[in-house]
Amino acid sequence: MNFTKNILCIGAGYVGGPTMAIIALKCPEYKVTVVDINEDRITSWNSDNLPIYEPGLLQAVQAARGTNLFFSTAISEGIRAADIIFVSVNTPTKTFGLGAGMASDLQYWEKTAHQIVMHSDQSKIIVEKSTLPVRTAEAMERILSENKKDIHFEVISNPEFLAEGSAVNDLLEPDRVLIGSQQTESGRQAAQAIVDIYAHWVPLEKIITTNLWSAELSKLVANAFLAQRISSINAISALCEKTDADVAEISFAVGSDRRIGSRFISASIGFGGSCFKKDILNLVYICRSYGLNEVADYWEWVIKMNEYQQERFVKKMIKEMFNTIVGKKIALLGFAFKANTGDTRESPGIYVAKKLLEEKADLVICDLQAQDNARKDLAGFDGRVCFEPDPYRAIEGAHAIAVITEWDLFTKLDFKKIFTMMEKPAFIFDGRNILDHQRLFQIGFNVFPLGKPSLTHF
Ligand code: UDX
Ligand code: ADP
Repeated sequence: MNFTKNILCIGAGYVGGPTMAIIALKCPEYKVTVVDINEDRITSWNSDNLPIYEPGLLQAVQAARGTNLFFSTAISEGIRAADIIFVSVNTPTKTFGLGAGMASDLQYWEKTAHQIVMHSDQSKIIVEKSTLPVRTAEAMERILSENKKDIHFEVISNPEFLAEGSAVNDLLEPDRVLIGSQQTESGRQAAQAIVDIYAHWVPLEKIITTNLWSAELSKLVANAFLAQRISSINAISALCEKTDADVAEISFAVGSDRRIGSRFISASIGFGGSCFKKDILNLVYICRSYGLNEVADYWEWVIKMNEYQQERFVKKMIKEMFNTIVGKKIALLGFAFKANTGDTRESPGIYVAKKLLEEKADLVICDLQAQDNARKDLAGFDGRVCFEPDPYRAIEGAHAIAVITEWDLFTKLDFKKIFTMMEKPAFIFDGRNILDHQRLFQIGFNVFPLGKPSLTHF
């Protein structure tokens, strides 16, 4: 088949894979190729055992793969053939040197920019998809324009707003698509080429075009606002635990105000995921670099509150279990940073598990989708932690259960049976407030919800 355009995506991760699958599905006249340096990842994308778990993704991939969607490790060939290149390589927080723990590590991204220059022999549109610090496009343009081949690269920022666990739906029905470009003739033309892709299925009024920097910064700000709401309600959950207030009732009452809205105000053990913390740290770093220390401090507290919430959860577990958990078996229900994903990046589960292990508890992790990632996160604790996808087997003989992820499965468990299988007194710490606490209390459990009064038999 003759395709009208060749689209390449560099980086076959959580963003690149699903985004390209949907573009391929919706734009049959474009050839979409996804490349990655990681051979295993590409092999998985070419199988029915995809490297990431995402509801509806396998069906989308199967519908387009081999027709106009291809996964490959042939990066240089891919670059040469492409008209439009999406860059969605990983940009984790730096762990070394200047800006360690705050700034983005741009080594993969810079390497990609050089590869693009090296293997291109015609002008191309380069689309930033990875979350990047503001003004990265400028740096990318600089690297790209240093080519001696007399070809032009137009850099576009098209930040991704999909959330894991609902990626396919978020891509099919986005609240908006953001496309930032230079406000020049060639910049506008390149932006239009990207608008044309999304216009295959997204209504035009939802496609927003802005200048390059606004697009980059909007991504950081959107995530900072969402995370801020969670930290706000989590701060209130601590106050609720000291009083007779119930944080779920407060969320409902406050969220009923249309100016506030009901989403992203559910108290939790803390937010995780690859974006929130990284993006806020980026925002903080950028503000500090411009001397805006008050602004930086303001946003930094969103992260500090998130850390406080996780610490509070573990401290409460230890205190309520008579200040010692040495040798006690504790079952962690869930390990992913949220339900419907196997991703554990920045999951509060990692912090909780490590702290409980430091206190010499014996852990069982129960999360079918996140098991492999959890194993990597807890490498080095072998022998003290085991992984059991069956919740009943995981809980058998445990002193306590801690709900880490809001998997629906956990709400459907037979807790009467579970109670008989546990050591007594039996404890439940519900880090997601998904269980029926009154019922658990009546069965005999000592129940510790978040931001609600504890229900204990002693
Ligand atoms: C987020 C943004 O939502 C998305 O737009 C962006 O592209 C990437 O970052 P993601 O990290 O996949 O997406 O998940 P999200 O649904 O935003 O949840 C993030 C964390 O917040 C999870 O740990 C979740 O459990 C937690 N959360 C969410 C709460 O604790 N309470 C809430 O009310 C909502
Ligand atoms: P995200 O959540 O942003 O999608 P991931 O870590 O899931 O991040 O995916 C990023 C992908 O980019 C990884 O599969 C990684 O192997 C790939 N990658 C990193 N650097 C390069 C590169 N220079 N060329 C091709 N792929 C790369």
